[in-house]
Formats: sequence, structure tokens, C-alpha cells
Amino acid sequence: MPTVFQKDYPLDTLNTLRLPGRARRFAEIVSAGQLVELVRGGGLTGERFFVLGGGSNIVVSGDVDATVLRMCIPGRELVASDDDAHYVRAGAGENWHEFVAWTLEMGWPGLENLALIPGTVGAAPIQNIGAYGLEVGECIHSLEAVDLRSGTLVSFDREACCFAYRDSIFKQDAANRFAVTAVTFRLPKRWLPILRYADLAREMSSRGIVAPRPAQVMEAVIAIRQRKLPDPAVIGNAGSFFKNPVVSVERCKKLLEFNPDMPHYPQPDGHEKIAAGWLIEKCGWKGHADGPVGMYEHQALVLVNMGGALGTDVLRVVASVRRDVVERFGIALEMEPVVL
Ligand code: EPU
Repeated sequence: MPTVFQKDYPLDTLNTLRLPGRARRFAEIVSAGQLVELVRGGGLTGERFFVLGGGSNIVVSGDVDATVLRMCIPGRELVASDDDAHYVRAGAGENWHEFVAWTLEMGWPGLENLALIPGTVGAAPIQNIGAYGLEVGECIHSLEAVDLRSGTLVSFDREACCFAYRDSIFKQDAANRFAVTAVTFRLPKRWLPILRYADLAREMSSRGIVAPRPAQVMEAVIAIRQRKLPDPAVIGNAGSFFKNPVVSVERCKKLLEFNPDMPHYPQPDGHEKIAAGWLIEKCGWKGHADGPVGMYEHQALVLVNMGGALGTDVLRVVASVRRDVVERFGIALEMEPVVL
């Protein structure tokens, strides 16, 4: 299928921060074959390009002198089943939350802790989305992607994706090289609820649930998210705006001497992860704004567009928050979203 490009295409409704900006060239991709054909036909040669999913993890800084490809590849199916697991494949353009809800309805639980995360299936592995004690990489069996240099369709198993905290090969060595077209999930038949995240455990006990069903875990996750995180349909935001910084145990101990109540979480590799939301709140940014951009009143890690903000307003607040956190704690926060 030939790709139809549109010129000066508005991106404001295609990013959840609702920032204005136009793409010099824009197209929707509805199949892997279409993308292969486009690359092999030279349609991206010499072009700056950007692969867009649900737009829930980007900052549109203004007009974009590039080709933006919006991944709209549909489809979801059970592709295999063995004694241990179901293998479920979904097209990159499927809405993430609807896909999670569908797997539960079909009786293939395992993704319920990741309910209500905005975005698409194809974007989920890029930054290895995670919440409430689970990261998506743990559930991915493999994925398919088109190499945007050669136009070949390649398959990555979980190992090859190099998943880490909010990170994967697609943000590192393979950044801007592959467009994920489909993801296959491995969902174990022996389901066990993951309730190690304190907020989720509390929510379950406040509901008086001891041995939850998958749908009950999903409902609890949805309730917590709705309490703490703004709905992008109502107020522009991109979820957590900064990563939780990971520091050495020694560094963490030093910080705790002056900040004994600082939330910190030991990591498997011996480091400590610190709650960036807490650091930002301590710097006075919770519910505080500069012009139309601020940090959310119920979760200081979430940057919000209260209406009419430009990308430059966002980047100004980012610089101020980072400066304040460095001055007070000596920690340089890293942004989660990608700047376009
Ligand atoms: N905290 C504060 N003040 C705040 C926000 C948080 O003191 O304004 C404290 C909380 O009291 C808690 C700790 O910080 O002790 C952690 O807060 P929370 O449980 O809300 O989680 P988070 O670390 O801020 C991370 C993810 C979220 C994910 C939640 C739940 C990152 C960058 N963020 O947030 O992911 O939903 O855990 O697992 O890792 C996202 O990436 O877009 C996202 C929403």
C-alpha cells in the first residue's frame, strides 16, 4: 500500500501534553508491509524522521522539520499456547489500556498492573513502561520491527531488547533506527498477583480483598491511578515527567542523614532508587506553576499543561525544576519523555 504524506500536519491533538506544532511531513502507517515498501522505495532516504505512537511520552517543542510516522497498525490475537503460557500478539497501533483489558477478558491475565497507562502497544517496549511492581519487558516474549535504514523486518527476543528501568535498546544503540510494528507477550498460565508495591497492597487491604482475581487487581490499579494522576483527556500531561534517579548506597545514606523521610528503594544491583516526586515536592514545586505549566498538585512528578502552553514553556519549567533539585539535593533529574 503506498504511503500518503500530508504537509504541515498539526500535532496538538496527537500528543497528550497538547502542545502545538506542525510536522513538515506526516503519514499514518497501517501495516509493516507498508513501512517496508516506504523505506525500500527511498521514501525516508536523507529525511529526519520520528516514529509516533500515542504521543503520551513526547514534548513537541514547536514546528518539526521532519517526517512524522504515526504507527496505527491494528490487530490482536492469541498466536500460541503451551503448558506454561499464552502468547498474545498485538499490532503497534493498538491502544495499550484497551489491549490490557481485553487480555483479562479473554482469560489471559498478567498485564493488569499496567492498566490505564496512556499510549500504544508499540510504544510500550521503547521506554519499558512500568507501574505497581511490574515492567512490561518482563511480559514480552518478542517483538517485530522494521529497520528504517534497510527496510527489513526484524525480530527481537526479550534479551535482545536490553530492557532496564524506563529503558531499552530502542532508546540506546538502536535509537531512531527501528519502528516497532508488533509485540508478542508471554502470559504465564499460573497467575499470581503482584502486590509488592506498597500503594497497591494498601488498596487491596482497604478493599478487604485477600486473594484477588486479576480483574480486582486491575480495578485497584485504575483507582490508584485515577486518584493520583491527571487524566490526559482533561488536563495535558505525559505521566511521570522525570525518571526516579538511581544512586549508590553511600550517596543515598548521605542524603538520608539530612532527609530521613526520603523514600528510597533498594535495587537488585545494590543501588538505591529515589522518589523524584518527593525531591520535586521538597523543592516547593508540587501544585506550583510558572505560567501555563506546573507540577501536578497530587503528584509532583507529573508536569501539567494547564492550557495554552508551548513547548518552550514546558522546557523552561523543566530547567527550573532540574536546577532547584540539583541545588538542594545535588541530583540531576533525567527527563522521561522525548523532545521532538
Ligand atoms: N511522593 C511524594 N510527593 C509527590 C509524589 C510522590 O512525596 O508529589 C512520594 C510518594 O509518597 C511515595 C514515592 O514518592 O513515597 C513514590 O511515589 P509513587 O508511588 O506515586 O510513584 P513514583 O515513583 O512517583 C513511579 C512511576 C510511575 C508509576 C508509579 C507506580 C517513574 C518515573 N514513575 O512513580 O509511572 O505509575 O511509580 O508504580 O518510575 C510514568 O512513568 O509515566 C508513571 C506514571
